[in-house]
Amino acid sequence: LPRTMLRRAAKQGDLHGRMFVATQSGDRAALEPVLDQLRAHAPFYRGRFASVTADHATVRAVLSSPDAGARRLPTDGGSTFARLQVWAMQDAPLGPLTPPSLLVTEPPDHTRYRKLVSRVFTARAVERLRTRTEQIATELLDQIDPRRPVDLVEAYCSLLPVTVIAEILGVPARDREKVLRMGAAAAPSLDLGLSWTTFRHVESALREFDEWLGQHLEDLRRHPGDDLLSQLVGAQEDGVGLSDVELRSIAGLVLAAGFETTVNLLGNGIALLASNPEQRRLLTEREDLWPNAVEEVLRIDPPVLITGRMAMADTVVAGVPIRRGSVMVALLAGANRDPQVFAEPDTFDITRQNARDHLSFSAGRHFCLGAALARMEGEVGLRTLFERHPDPRVENGAVRRSTRILRGYERLPVTLSP
Ligand code: HEM
Repeated sequence: LPRTMLRRAAKQGDLHGRMFVATQSGDRAALEPVLDQLRAHAPFYRGRFASVTADHATVRAVLSSPDAGARRLPTDGGSTFARLQVWAMQDAPLGPLTPPSLLVTEPPDHTRYRKLVSRVFTARAVERLRTRTEQIATELLDQIDPRRPVDLVEAYCSLLPVTVIAEILGVPARDREKVLRMGAAAAPSLDLGLSWTTFRHVESALREFDEWLGQHLEDLRRHPGDDLLSQLVGAQEDGVGLSDVELRSIAGLVLAAGFETTVNLLGNGIALLASNPEQRRLLTEREDLWPNAVEEVLRIDPPVLITGRMAMADTVVAGVPIRRGSVMVALLAGANRDPQVFAEPDTFDITRQNARDHLSFSAGRHFCLGAALARMEGEVGLRTLFERHPDPRVENGAVRRSTRILRGYERLPVTLSP
């Protein structure tokens, strides 16, 4: 129903509705003009169903506001539109958007939960995974014939992050393929507006994953490994650890995030660098530019396009009064192209000084927990590929995903060494 309402609103000129329709194609060219129109209404465009912002300062203000929650709407308030969305999610199995997922939990629960998880997901833990990630990237490239067109999303971009995630979750070799299959099927759960068939498919994959996880956690409790999930099982704060459902939820979120976001960072990065020989040349001359190149890829083609918040109380955001229960839509992709912050925002420039000011990992208390991991994987994944194959060619037949929230390639046929 919310989909139909938004489509109808689009026909009547509502920019929120038009933005929703434009996200359907996955095509950046269709979306960018709408983002500019929305930004012209800064701080907020007051749509029929939500206050929408594509302005950098306002997006940051929404994400950092103590009164703007990612939690589901309190059932006693809010618009009909928001209540319908909550209703649609009611019976969903444990998934990335089902409580107690960090993504939809708020303080004080979120503070305790996140503190415990952050103890394990440290920058040092990520650095320890770098060598293994390089090894995985090299092994994957070894299996690709560089003279023939290959879909790199399938052969490289999705396998690299997911193999790293399997290490983090301590998945035994015998279960790896099964987990990869369940993860791939469950991954669209991070997106909204799924068709009924996909929703059913996702739902059954989530249930299957959750069952497997129950058994896996029991195994880890009895025989802890040196993986991060084993450490999470043992993590405690003031003598209190994570509950079983919290552990299952974080493992599911890490799996989904590993599948659906980093794959897009790699695919978007390959496509951008492959079509910008000047920028590639710069990278061969100055290796120190690699981390900034990853930031610029994240800025110009963010794997997560959009997020939203709900006002948990009457409040003021970016100087604008917002009523309790109102929905605020924050366009991360819009913030990243704000000309007030980024000079010539539509130009892909890996030397951009402030590329890292993008909001692709969100901001505030829900700032991406996996940002350091994603940055490391992005750098290792792109660098290993381009150092070995400096001039790959993107072939005809590239297809963007039709997902609404997550942005990237569904298929990316590339000849690595034409
Ligand atoms: C949260 C983006 C990779 C784990 C988020 C959010 C964004 C995001 C935008 C916050 C959403 C909001 O504010 O509503 C990305 C991007 C990635 C990426 C662009 C890759 C390029 C990862 C990876 C992991 C991960 C690899 C695995 C550890 C999480 C978790 C949260 C989160 C656990 C929830 C944090 C919280 O709510 O406190 N991510 N992510 N992400 N991400 Fe990532």
